[in-house]
Amino acid sequence: MGRLEGKVALVTGAARGTGAAIAELFVEEGAHVCIADILEDRGAEQAAALGPRACFQPLDVREPASWASALEATRVHFGPANVLVNNAAILDVRPIAEFSPEVARNILDVNLVGPMIGTQAVVPGMVEAGGGSIVNMGSIDAMEGMGWVAPYAASKFGLRGFTKSAALELGQKGIRVNLVCPAGGNQALTQGFAQNLMKRREAGEFIELRGLEGGILGDRRAKPRDIAQMVLFLASDDAAYCHGGEYMVDGGHTAGHIWFATEPPERPA
Ligand SMILES: NC(=O)c1ccc[n+]([C@@H]2O[C@H](COP(=O)([O-])OP(=O)(O)OC[C@H]3O[C@@H](n4cnc5c(N)ncnc54)[C@H](O)[C@@H]3O)[C@@H](O)[C@H]2O)c1
Repeated sequence: MGRLEGKVALVTGAARGTGAAIAELFVEEGAHVCIADILEDRGAEQAAALGPRACFQPLDVREPASWASALEATRVHFGPANVLVNNAAILDVRPIAEFSPEVARNILDVNLVGPMIGTQAVVPGMVEAGGGSIVNMGSIDAMEGMGWVAPYAASKFGLRGFTKSAALELGQKGIRVNLVCPAGGNQALTQGFAQNLMKRREAGEFIELRGLEGGILGDRRAKPRDIAQMVLFLASDDAAYCHGGEYMVDGGHTAGHIWFATEPPERPA
């Protein structure tokens, strides 16, 4: 028996990347899943590939009316959602001086206000379903800063605060709320980040990157499924006592800042 039998999950940003991996693993574990995204063709294809336990609904996480219709469609297909994964997010890479207020506001709108209004929208159905689990997708950038992604890091730090406040408010309604903090996972965001920098380098800008080389676990990079496994655990009843927490899936990235790739040289006696 799957670990998500009886669960009805809405996963935002699940048309591709980490969200798609979460939807796939959830279906494997017995959940019914609504893939909710602004990418309609890709989302519909993704849902079709997962079979009758999945459906697709267009959702713009910035719009309360869009949340209402995606949750209502989920209810019609499978019943009220008792799992919400706030995974959708956007990233823009540029120094602080180059962020327009519009770009910064949109990042906060999608990455932070989206999960807030999604939480508001899903709670009544979760109460009706007898409880639920909300999993918010943070990042290592919810724990540490990173150059050239200031609004994104601010949105993820904000989501961390929202997760804790929501946990305090919703625990007594039987709704658990947690934050997952990945490093990597889907290469789309990471590649977008790298490509943006490469373009600027090619255009003649001097850009030196620090802190991106090597990994503490060797060359292995996170796979979407690594992140999905943590989300699965927090969505399931196995995590019944996990509430208001932040769960790193970062290969040790935030464990500390200096490590040695080789054994220390032998010391003279
Ligand atoms: N990839 C990484 O390196 C990495 C690292 C840390 C955290 N994360 C987090 O993991 C999550 C997934 O990232 P990913 O790498 O799979 O990104 P991605 O860009 O591949 O996927 C994000 C999805 O969100 C959707 N989306 C964007 N705006 C939306 C909106 N307004 N309404 C609904 N959907 C919208 C996109 O269409 C896309 O399908 C994000 O929260 C991201 O911040 C990713």
